[in-house]
Amino acid sequence: MIDFKDMKSIMITGGAGFIGSHVVRLFVNKYPDYRIINVDKLTYAGNLENLRDIENCPNYRFVKADICDFDTIYALMQEEQVTGVIHLAAESHVDRSIKDPFTFARTNVMGTLSMLQAAKLYWETRENKYEGCRFYHISTDEVYGALELTHPEGIDSPFTTTASSALHHHAYGEKFFTEDLKYMPHSPYSASKASSDHFVRAFHDTYGMPTIVTNCSNNYGPYQFPEKLIPLFINNIRHRKPLPVYGKGENVRDWLYVEDHARAIDLIFHKGQVAETYNIGGFNEWKNIDIIKVVIATVDRILGREEGADMDLITYVTDRAGHDMRYAIDSRKLQRELGWEPSLQFEEGIERTVRWYLDHQEWMDRITSGEYERYYEDMYKNR
Ligand code: NAD
Ligand code: DAU
Repeated sequence: MIDFKDMKSIMITGGAGFIGSHVVRLFVNKYPDYRIINVDKLTYAGNLENLRDIENCPNYRFVKADICDFDTIYALMQEEQVTGVIHLAAESHVDRSIKDPFTFARTNVMGTLSMLQAAKLYWETRENKYEGCRFYHISTDEVYGALELTHPEGIDSPFTTTASSALHHHAYGEKFFTEDLKYMPHSPYSASKASSDHFVRAFHDTYGMPTIVTNCSNNYGPYQFPEKLIPLFINNIRHRKPLPVYGKGENVRDWLYVEDHARAIDLIFHKGQVAETYNIGGFNEWKNIDIIKVVIATVDRILGREEGADMDLITYVTDRAGHDMRYAIDSRKLQRELGWEPSLQFEEGIERTVRWYLDHQEWMDRITSGEYERYYEDMYKNR
């Protein structure tokens, strides 16, 4: 039996996924006196290879479980005397949500509700109830809907950080997502995340549960499943396969290096105010087509190909249904209140990312074979 007296016991859900694996790694390495329980169903997006370097650490335990399975989650919370939850498990890909919205409602809405209810019922059995406990829900900027592209050529961004990009510091409109904005989700994915955010806040307002919600912009970096723009395109460029650019490639996303998100999660988990919402962003807006050109140039340079050799792989395809035009986060609240800002300039982040995927071809090959490959071909056949 483990002695929990001086130990924080933290359940991290979705820890075998992209962002979750970075959060698990950070917590396991940084806090040897915490017990980290990674709960993941290992869907197509979950991959224990993402955590090989820490899987034998004494403060780490992996449990394969579905967050929708209330009984299992409740029993595990009891067994491990969990006082902290960092909830990342979700279906996360917008294109899949367009094809299969039910799975998104099940995991993102019902799964989050099951996590909340299990934590509530377990914490209510504790002598000090919610004292020392925290339920931290990881959400997305997509819940706010879409911003307009009022400056298609870009204007100087009003925000600067020590990590602001040296080459590119544009904003594509005057408006930004702030924490007080009304929710306006458009895709089944963002609608399911919005709904889960509402449940989390309802558990605070109704039962006094100590909750926190953060809404983050697009992450990039190692271990991202290659259905998402950046790893998909790096892999396709490497193999000289077409790069399917949705619509005109004019949509804008605000990119944050995944380790900077994990650092923000660590900070907010420990220092954030209960019942608050914090937006997390990269202060780093890019049009898809521009970021794609940077990725092509970076891959070609690293592989020693002629400059621009692979630009002709760009293939404009039918747009994503309901494609949100622009996301841009104002994360000055987090900067002001907790002193967080991105640490990595985009130039360095994209270099590291491209090199990581090119150096980890086996990781990529194992994923892009078999079942996933068939799904991917199917998806594009039907576009
Ligand atoms: P991901 O798809 O890479 O990983 C999701 C993980 O959740 C996988 O390991 C999967 O096996 C697990 N999972 C899925 N359904 C489950 C279930 N029913 N029970 C247990 N585990 C289950 O996702 P990601 O990109 O790492 O995103 C993690 C979280 O961060 C999500 O909540 C997402 O909405 C949010 N988010 C992502 C981004 C981004 O850019 N990727 C940005 C902002 C917020
Ligand atoms: O903003 C945060 C969100 O970022 C997260 O909540 C989601 O979980 C995450 O998947 C991401 O959503 P996006 O839809 O923005 O990411 P994705 O990588 O799918 O696409 C980025 C942009 O690139 C988007 O405008 C669609 C476009 N795109 C994407 C793919 C996969 C293409 O043009 N072609 C593609 O093949």
